[in-house]
Amino acid sequence: MLLLAIETSCDETSVAVLRDGRVLAAVVASQTSLHAPHGGVVPELATREHLRNLPLLVRQTSNEAGIALEQLDAVAVTQGPGLPPALLVGLRTAQGIAMAAGCPAYGINHVEAHLYSPWIHPETRTMDWPGFQPNLSLIVSGGHTLLAHVAAAGQHRVLGSTLDDAAGECFDKTAKLLGLGYPGGPEIDRLAAGGNPAAFDFPRPLLNRADDDFSFSGLKTSVRYFLAKQSGAVTASRLSDLCASVQAAIVEVLVTKTIRAARRLGVSVVTASGGVSCNSALRTSLHSACAENGLVLRLAAPAYCTDNAAMIGLLADWKIRNGLAPLTATDDVRPRWPLDERAG
Ligand code: KG4
Ligand code: ZN
Repeated sequence: MLLLAIETSCDETSVAVLRDGRVLAAVVASQTSLHAPHGGVVPELATREHLRNLPLLVRQTSNEAGIALEQLDAVAVTQGPGLPPALLVGLRTAQGIAMAAGCPAYGINHVEAHLYSPWIHPETRTMDWPGFQPNLSLIVSGGHTLLAHVAAAGQHRVLGSTLDDAAGECFDKTAKLLGLGYPGGPEIDRLAAGGNPAAFDFPRPLLNRADDDFSFSGLKTSVRYFLAKQSGAVTASRLSDLCASVQAAIVEVLVTKTIRAARRLGVSVVTASGGVSCNSALRTSLHSACAENGLVLRLAAPAYCTDNAAMIGLLADWKIRNGLAPLTATDDVRPRWPLDERAG
């Protein structure tokens, strides 16, 4: 099956071409520099940029894969969740290409693609379905923070999610308060490397609550209050200590609740995905916590942590072979599409 995959849910335009579940070509065009002066994603700018980039990326990936669009057997696209106008550009482009190629188009849930991204083998560029094991999955991105139990491939249940800000949002908003660039997560990660994580004691929201929910807006507020009390500018070494301390608070909550849920469910594998799973402190802390608890850790490879069309195509390939129904001409974007339909 020759498949073209499209991802435009937020500020990354991405296209991939796959043959029989193997990525032949994949490109991600990041819009970070476009949104950076605004301190966050501006939906109108993102949409315009998707519209400009998509035809270029489709041409680039199909050339690289050595295929013509008429040869396609399927087109897969992120149908939701995400920014409505950004999703719309991807969906309508996918439907147009599918119509021209005379093949079906399929809608994929973006968060579900993150959920299975730890199973992408970065060298073979295939999904390791044969090695798949039931797991407890942590998804941490700019838009989502949730824990899910994946009992079998295609069978997942959301256990808990954030009640307010996502972990990535907390990183980004805190970075903004500290006067750092956008997106702030990688900046905090970089600055924290030289800092003392125990220098400042920031709250660990919901750490001791028995459920699997998260809350990060209070943490950001406590950083704001902390800064308001400071006299004078924050020195470079204090900035590193601040970044390390905020990061430590976020990481401790994420790791503690992930391990607790894994132990409760009795799974032997933990997975983590989404942009924030690139964070070096989170990766290190998950490694040691899993080792201490006899759990196997499977992290998404860095290239597949942030938004990309390869993960959309790899999940689509599996779902199509397992009977996924194609989109109809009247199907629309699903900006708030829940991962777990029962939970939404
Ligand atoms: O998965 P993603 O690309 O987009 C969404 O689906 O939301 O995640 C983007 C988020 C941003 O909030 C960004 O700051 C965060 O991932 N991020 C990081 C790191 N790299 C990306 N956060 C902390 N440390 C990092 N190294
Ligand atoms: Zn994402």
